Amino acid sequence: MIKLTPPMGWNSWNTFGENINEKMIFETADVMAESGLRDKGYEYLVIDDCWSLRERDENGRLVPDPEKFPHGMKAVADYVHSKGLKFGMYSCAGNMTCAGYPGSYEHEFVDAETFASWDVDFLKYDYCYHSPILHGKYLYRRMGLALENCGRDILFSACSWGADETHEWIKETGASMWRSTGDIFDTWDSVKDLVAQQEKLHPYNGVGCFNDMDMLIVGMKGRGHVGLKGCTDEEYKLHFAAWCLLESPLMIGCDIREMTEETKAILTNPTLLSIDQDARCNRPYILKFGGNNDYPIIVRNLENGDVALGFFNLSDSPANLWVPSDDLGVPFLQGKRLEGTEAYTGKRINAVNATLSASLEPHTCEVYRLKITELP
Ligand code: GLA
Repeated sequence: MIKLTPPMGWNSWNTFGENINEKMIFETADVMAESGLRDKGYEYLVIDDCWSLRERDENGRLVPDPEKFPHGMKAVADYVHSKGLKFGMYSCAGNMTCAGYPGSYEHEFVDAETFASWDVDFLKYDYCYHSPILHGKYLYRRMGLALENCGRDILFSACSWGADETHEWIKETGASMWRSTGDIFDTWDSVKDLVAQQEKLHPYNGVGCFNDMDMLIVGMKGRGHVGLKGCTDEEYKLHFAAWCLLESPLMIGCDIREMTEETKAILTNPTLLSIDQDARCNRPYILKFGGNNDYPIIVRNLENGDVALGFFNLSDSPANLWVPSDDLGVPFLQGKRLEGTEAYTGKRINAVNATLSASLEPHTCEVYRLKITELP
């Protein structure tokens, strides 16, 4: 299935780990529909690892854990669909999933059929316990083909963490998104590290197969499976803005049943969502302010001719960042300039002659959606 803009939804792993069950999935589906998240584009509800029994059945099929999912997975899919959402599940290219449940190795086609029979719409496919002999590209090719032949449109979400030079072969497999990096944790250092890693990887982003920077930690506040220290709301704002500018899939990872207004405001920021979901899907580019990794300026040209521009201060001190509009392709000497407002605050861009700038506290960003206008 081709999804032309980065997939959006919710995934159980970051908060719940193995503590998943039908009841909390149903409640989450209710909240996705009723809170407005679904209508903003968060359409996939994805159950991650730990949903099955530890053994396949006598026909070699995966079996949902009857204690966690007493009505089976088709019933879960039906409920999720009844809320106007799509249903996602998880498996692994190895013998076992990362948490030790059966993986799909040598069962790829039967598992794809099983997922199709449950009306699954999305498959996250992990890379733990994979064959030491078969290269990852063969394993992902297999599942890609199994999904294409299972009789149902199932979005393929590859999760090999960028291992084995994933960027070189992942687009062969039919994946719509690919985890470009290791796992996220709910800490500032993790956000900073994942942004920095995109410096080398963002050129591989592309229409229909997006660099997945991992599930969002916005709103986790140190709670849950990858909870750790948590971040401030300013840090979550930067995290969300970076994912949107870099065109990442947006999979919410907090417990949305307890989401605060601030968390919801970040996750539904209209300007940032318009940038993430821009139909043109142009590749972002990154300017390193002062040649320093701590001050990325991330830019993306949008479908209607607008320019999305983000100033990021990843350092622990205040910083003034600036960029000549000429570096963005906007020639001051031809009488062109950029105008617009900041995504979170609505303040106007600071533009003096041919230079655009932002004064940033530590761990903060400013992101603008700008129009090219004529100098007065
Ligand atoms: C890996 C993946 C995570 C999550 C866990 C589940 O670590 O990268 O996103 O799916 O496995 O065990």
